Amino acid sequence: MTAKTAGTDGTANVFAGARAYRERYGVNRRMPDKGRPHDEIMRELREMADAEDVFWQTGRCSGSLYRGNMEHYGFLNEAASLYSHVNALQRDICPSASRFESEIIAMTLDMMHGDAVPGGTACGAVTQGGTDSIMSAVLAHRERARRRSTRRDVTMILPVTAHPAFEKAAHLFGIDVIPAPIDPRTTQVDVDFVRAHIDERTILLVGSAGNYPYGTIDPIDRLSELAIERGVGLHVDGCLGGFILPWGEALGYEIPVFDFRLPGVSSISADTHKYGYGLKGTSVVLYRDKDLREGQYFVSEMWPGGKYFSPGLAGSRPVGLLAATWASMVSLGREGYLELARAIFETSFAMQKAVRSHAELRMMGVPTFCFSFTSDAFDIYHVNDFMRGRGWRFNGQQYPNAIHMCVTGPQTQPGVVEAFTTDLREAVDYAHHPSRETPASGAIYGGIPTDVPEAQQFLRRTLIEIIDRMHDLPPE
Ligand SMILES: Cc1ncc(COP(=O)(O)O)c(C=O)c1O
Repeated sequence: MTAKTAGTDGTANVFAGARAYRERYGVNRRMPDKGRPHDEIMRELREMADAEDVFWQTGRCSGSLYRGNMEHYGFLNEAASLYSHVNALQRDICPSASRFESEIIAMTLDMMHGDAVPGGTACGAVTQGGTDSIMSAVLAHRERARRRSTRRDVTMILPVTAHPAFEKAAHLFGIDVIPAPIDPRTTQVDVDFVRAHIDERTILLVGSAGNYPYGTIDPIDRLSELAIERGVGLHVDGCLGGFILPWGEALGYEIPVFDFRLPGVSSISADTHKYGYGLKGTSVVLYRDKDLREGQYFVSEMWPGGKYFSPGLAGSRPVGLLAATWASMVSLGREGYLELARAIFETSFAMQKAVRSHAELRMMGVPTFCFSFTSDAFDIYHVNDFMRGRGWRFNGQQYPNAIHMCVTGPQTQPGVVEAFTTDLREAVDYAHHPSRETPASGAIYGGIPTDVPEAQQFLRRTLIEIIDRMHDLPPE
């Protein structure tokens, strides 16, 4: 495969957008007059997919491909293919969708100790991804607040490390965000700040298990106490960690309790399409009770098209993804999840050991499966630049500049930890005497000062242009 898209630098692909394939395959600027043969289409699809898979299969790409095993994906695709043409909104045609969905929820509740909720009222819903789960939970809390009060100027208190999906939800549902700082030493949310900012407008507190930037877990036990004391909701974002931390606890790692065993936790999100090892496009949102869940339902009774009901933000949903998610969970079982988690935790701690062996590098907080590090001696993006040259793709953080590795299946392959250790040593040497003053990879992530409005505006425009390029045809 010679297309320029699948180099070792994932970021370049984003900038390239559809242009990456223009020369090789041409561009469909309008619907083709005649349909093309299936085998030709499949050949083209395979060429692109194979070339793009090569990149992460090296084990040098942080996060994103959680199971990273083509046999597993093949099995899930087979499961999905039986139902991908069926709409989960039309349950009379597909009672199997109800079976998949209710069992996915039950298995996730089992992992999150739903049985600890008095009266057995814990429940949930399957959504289309982490953002969907978070938006659903925020909406559900807003609706509950509206049922209880006429007040509309409501707020939620959000650790600055919380995923932007919460901000998106606040933007869509008319909620003001109070950003809560973190303790820079632990990277956990400052609970005293949260306590001091709860007032009659507060409807929701948020904590992550773990957060995306640093993989660290907020003090959910203390947030839970606060939530009970002040009568507000508490959402635990386990989108990233929800399907791996429970297995870490079972394996004896020091994982604090963050689930329904804590009485103040009112909802939890956990992504089946991350460490649940399902296909992309599903997540689970869990609620302490059905009254709260009802807030994400939508009913329209007067529509000429018939009485309409949808359980969440989406309308039509493919049963195929439910089938694949269910197949992933029941094919692995507790034993399979434990085994995969063991390999991931061991790999992550081995990589962390390599980072800690360099006095110039500093770990952000006390992480587990996903870790982030910075440097007080040089700009960490110099390390990132060098590692990119060796085919590594980390995720970049800002304020302060840091880089993270979210350890997944592909990193557990033999030789990856060793390569990381060797490359990191050379990268640290390079960072002491970099070939350029300003790191190439820090230009967007970390290099924009917060106090220069034009720079912020420039960054926003650049990001919008990137998104446009992902959706628009390349120029003629
Ligand atoms: C902690 C956390 N929450 C939420 C999300 C959002 O998930 P999604 O991208 O599936 O919408 C992510 C994604 O990485 C995440 O890491």
